[in-house]
Amino acid sequence: KTVVHITGARPNFPKAAPVLAALDQKVDQMLVHTGQHYDDRLSRVFFDELALPEPDLNLNAGSGSHATQTAAVMVGLEQVFTERRPDLVVVYGDINSTLAAALVAAKLGIPVAHVEAGLRSFDMTMPEEVNRRVTDQLSDLLLVTSADAVGHLAREGVAAERIHFVGNPMIDTLLTHLDRFDEAAARKQHGLDGDYLVATLHRPSNVDDPAAVRQLVSVLHEAAERMPLVIPLHPRGRAGLEKAGLDASSGVKLTDPLPYTAFLGLVRGARAVLTDSGGVQEEASVLGVPCLTMRPNTERPVTITHGTNRLVTPHGVLPALDAVLAEPPATRPAPLEKRPPLWDGAAGPRIAEVILSWLAR
Ligand code: UD1
Repeated sequence: KTVVHITGARPNFPKAAPVLAALDQKVDQMLVHTGQHYDDRLSRVFFDELALPEPDLNLNAGSGSHATQTAAVMVGLEQVFTERRPDLVVVYGDINSTLAAALVAAKLGIPVAHVEAGLRSFDMTMPEEVNRRVTDQLSDLLLVTSADAVGHLAREGVAAERIHFVGNPMIDTLLTHLDRFDEAAARKQHGLDGDYLVATLHRPSNVDDPAAVRQLVSVLHEAAERMPLVIPLHPRGRAGLEKAGLDASSGVKLTDPLPYTAFLGLVRGARAVLTDSGGVQEEASVLGVPCLTMRPNTERPVTITHGTNRLVTPHGVLPALDAVLAEPPATRPAPLEKRPPLWDGAAGPRIAEVILSWLAR
């Protein structure tokens, strides 16, 4: 049996690594990189650090409008799937490459497994919400990270036998590499001695609209007056943020995108993290680091109910931050019983088991 895994952007790599490892030697595997992310700092370093196998193929789809990017991935994958005729295509998360792969496979009659199915922000202005909904409709196996996702899929008419609550493979990767998240090294790298904060920002809703980005930049500068604030900048929106006045003044420390372990070492030692990323909400929750999510909604509510996350408006960031700073620090990392159910480091093997028994059916 042949299983083809589709990855394309930074958040895919820590999700795919434990699945590839758990299926190793049990099926023929092919790893495709669509090339959606092509910067070494968003791609190459993850393959090296996570010991991911070299992709069998890179489609070099690159950047562009949504249609251009999605179409480039589709055209490339149609050829691959037609030639290889895999028994299963595994897609990860909610990026354009995920949607493109699911669409091509479905049209060719090739079954699709979606890792991280069923998450919903109920915000159709997010490109990822469109990608999630369509991908789930096209998938044969829906591998779910949290119980709320099961309910969403059931309400959308997905048959119960297709849905498998397996836990979170991204957390497998986090727990595997936990000992390498070196807070002291992060302090040294960024010239930090006492308490500090970390922020990441890349969502179109936050970095593309000039008024929104100006407001957030002034909030970030105010936050940095409490204590130093390190901001690793995603290439998307970097120019917009700098144009809106984000600079390395009064406690703000700007850096390039960081490798996986360096970033999580930095987060692990932070008093709090401010973000609009999906993955960071999950990682901060398991590390036990307070997380303020600068968004009106989250597709990961389990990080609020079973984690350290809270949603904040631009006006709410500083009051929420002050509240967090006044609280006694939580245990780090969060003990197993305080984490979301099945975020235990064994999602990869559970996913492999579901896939293998499905292939043998
Ligand atoms: C993509 C995902 C997003 C995810 C994010 C993680 C979609 C719709 N979005 O967003 O869900 O949270 O990855 O990082 O799939 N760029 C570079 N170098 C690269 C890649 C991109 O400089 O290697 C810049 C380009 O200016 C590009 C822009 O970032 O136009 C956007 O890239 P794109 O892949 O479309 O989306 P991301 O914002 O990275």
